[in-house]
Amino acid sequence: MMPEGEPGRTWWKHGTLYQIYPRSYQDSNGDGVGDLRGIINRLDHLQNLGVDGIWLDPITVSPNDDWGYDVSDYCDVDPALGTLADAEELVTEAAKRGIRIILDLVPNHSSDQHPWFKEAISSRDSAKRDWYVWADPKPDGSPPNNWRNIFDPRRPAWTFDEASGQYYLNQFLASQPDLNWWNPLVRDAFDDILRFWFDRGVAGFRIDVCHAVVKDAELRDNPPTTSDDHWYEQMHGVKQVYNASRPEVHDVIRRWRTLADSYTPKRILVGETYVLDPNRLAEFYGNGDDELNLAFNFHLVHAEFNAAELRSAVELAEKLLPANAWPTWTGGNHDNHRWMSRWCGNDPAKARVGMVMFMGLRGTPFLYYGDEIAMPDTEVGPDRILDPVGKTHGPRLGRDNERTPMHWTASAGAGYSEAGVEPWLPYGDYAACNVADQTADVDSMLEFTRELIALRRATPELQTAPYITHPASDDRLWAWTRGSLLVALNMTNEQTEIAGTNGTCLLHTDRSLDGMAVDGRLSLSPWSAAIIQT
Ligand code: GLC
Repeated sequence: MMPEGEPGRTWWKHGTLYQIYPRSYQDSNGDGVGDLRGIINRLDHLQNLGVDGIWLDPITVSPNDDWGYDVSDYCDVDPALGTLADAEELVTEAAKRGIRIILDLVPNHSSDQHPWFKEAISSRDSAKRDWYVWADPKPDGSPPNNWRNIFDPRRPAWTFDEASGQYYLNQFLASQPDLNWWNPLVRDAFDDILRFWFDRGVAGFRIDVCHAVVKDAELRDNPPTTSDDHWYEQMHGVKQVYNASRPEVHDVIRRWRTLADSYTPKRILVGETYVLDPNRLAEFYGNGDDELNLAFNFHLVHAEFNAAELRSAVELAEKLLPANAWPTWTGGNHDNHRWMSRWCGNDPAKARVGMVMFMGLRGTPFLYYGDEIAMPDTEVGPDRILDPVGKTHGPRLGRDNERTPMHWTASAGAGYSEAGVEPWLPYGDYAACNVADQTADVDSMLEFTRELIALRRATPELQTAPYITHPASDDRLWAWTRGSLLVALNMTNEQTEIAGTNGTCLLHTDRSLDGMAVDGRLSLSPWSAAIIQT
């Protein structure tokens, strides 16, 4: 069951959350695939790190065309990852360490192997036909509208079913048919799925494709893009108007929120809100209390790693979110190359600056497994590509590089699996970067991350105080206050200074400066950051 809360502290707001890609965390049975028992075995690492909750990418039964995001049974565990009993044990063991489990809910589509779809495709008259989005071809036989496939914009978002003469909507793979959220029975079925897991002590859901589960009821054509539009829309040639962010999606989110709030302790909803217009993100918080608890901000994920772009993403969210809405920040996930590589070019100094940013902002930081040791992407050669996007578009756009096994030790098998076992995706350079070596090293990224998380936990202003941009900020230096604290990031290769600052340095990327007195002038060396008690 879920751990008791601490008075005055809301775990999902004031704590640090951590995403695990289950196949890649720890292989407990030597088959080259990470599993739930492996995660149980590594809970002490997470407790030492100080995280309050973990989000697991899908653990439910899947043919794995899209590695768990094609679900064929929402209420059981994929055999490659373990059993339902393992999931229950994980919840219990995590709770003993003050850690909550957040699962991934995939409501936009199921697998074509799900019994619902098998029934739906069996005939036009099937009782489940309307659980999916079916439409007749245009008179010339072409797809019902101009929506493009998200994984491969060269093809339509529709697949023709010869047997019934109709198309079904699949915004992702053809084996991931979109569910029809206008059908009340689909809504009821998902209520049951939420309850199934909440009843087992699961603390919440990260909701896949949350912004787009409801489509335009009339399936209207999307308007064409112009050169002013976001690159993502330009890639599709059409604006995402009728297939995503429909007003009616908010009814569904409110319904889920009512259900989550009916539990004690309340469960939470974290949305994959891939909205391209940052002005629209706020809508997914509803009135601040009746939709998502946390909505991922992809505007920040897509920003360049420089003071100007990151600051503007944060300032915009701070300006637009409803008063009682709570931001959440991450640099990446299983769909984006690791921020260590993408943003920092694998430069450890930059990684520390990034970590100070995540822990210093107002809002909940989500780390992706390996961020705590500044684990870089792993190059996955063409012969090892497993991600469907990588298969279609090649490794640069593919998502395998950020999904490779966690580096625990420097010995063969990386502490992930047994020596000699070939992991499902290749190992990176675990001798160069691993948990064991960094645990022994007080000046490591792991220790730095742990100290930052601990500082955040011990410092109420870091948890709750408002974010206010410091006037010294420019395109190179980004500084902000949180109550009496000053967080300052020098994001350049040059020395910078903030005048008029007095206080004590609580934590510095150069650990030898922790505790240093700041007397009138804070001086920051290239690519460094500090949190100052003024
Ligand atoms: C989300 C997931 C991604 C998946 C897609 C389809 O974007 O994060 O991994 O491929 O949805 O389910």
